[in-house]
Amino acid sequence: MSGRLAGKVAIVTGSGSGIGQAIAIRFASEGATVVIDYRNHIDQAQETASKAEAAGGKSILVKADVSNLADTQNLVGQAYSQLGRCDILVNNAGIEKEAAFCDVTEADYDAVLNVNLKGAFFLAQAFVRRLRDAKLPGRIINISSVHEDMVFPNFSTYCVSKGGIRMLMRDLAVELGPLNITVNNIAPGAIATPINNKLMDNKAQLDALLKNILLGRMGTPDDVSGVALFLASDDGAYVTGATYFVDGGLIRNYHEQ
Ligand code: BGC
Repeated sequence: MSGRLAGKVAIVTGSGSGIGQAIAIRFASEGATVVIDYRNHIDQAQETASKAEAAGGKSILVKADVSNLADTQNLVGQAYSQLGRCDILVNNAGIEKEAAFCDVTEADYDAVLNVNLKGAFFLAQAFVRRLRDAKLPGRIINISSVHEDMVFPNFSTYCVSKGGIRMLMRDLAVELGPLNITVNNIAPGAIATPINNKLMDNKAQLDALLKNILLGRMGTPDDVSGVALFLASDDGAYVTGATYFVDGGLIRNYHEQ
């Protein structure tokens, strides 16, 4: 199949819904074979696979909880054993838990940090080890958040995880540049996906947020997938160590008083 990612294999974590699903479908429509990762909901992963197929692309499904080291190694292993290569890693899987700082439990802290940060860290490690050994180039794209930089009261665990992803990206860009592996973040703002269901159901909260978004609307998963495609494609070959904010200007919002 032709396309901007023809012949490439891409792992997209958490690709059963939301931004991950949009990226998986977009990559498949551009000729990549996509490794669709899911933790619990095979039905959602199957939906992504059928949409990828409808878009003219190919995919395989792999069950992996990214917070589990053995699962991350198996996820990369499956890409090689079933597809023979793995060129692109999109660390997308992410969760958030709302709690005032004093109420954060150890279980919530571990859940958020383990998926959002430990998962991305060790999956990148498994991905890079293979490329290093085979002397092949690669692309790592982390789906971070505006909250890698911007405060989010009552979501301290989420902010800690995303701040960690910001520094992981910068550090890996330096370490992996000589291996011709690029590392970048996409930092979405408020995107209409299941992670924001509660927000979208609360009109007052949503209206207040929309006032802070320069473009006056929430983003769509495809607002994000287009930037991911750019970073994964030849057009993004010389980009590394960068965060791309896809937030309608949320992080630049301006208040006179
Ligand atoms: C969070 C959303 C939040 C948005 C803007 C995202 O990273 O997942 O819950 O609405 O940032 O603050």
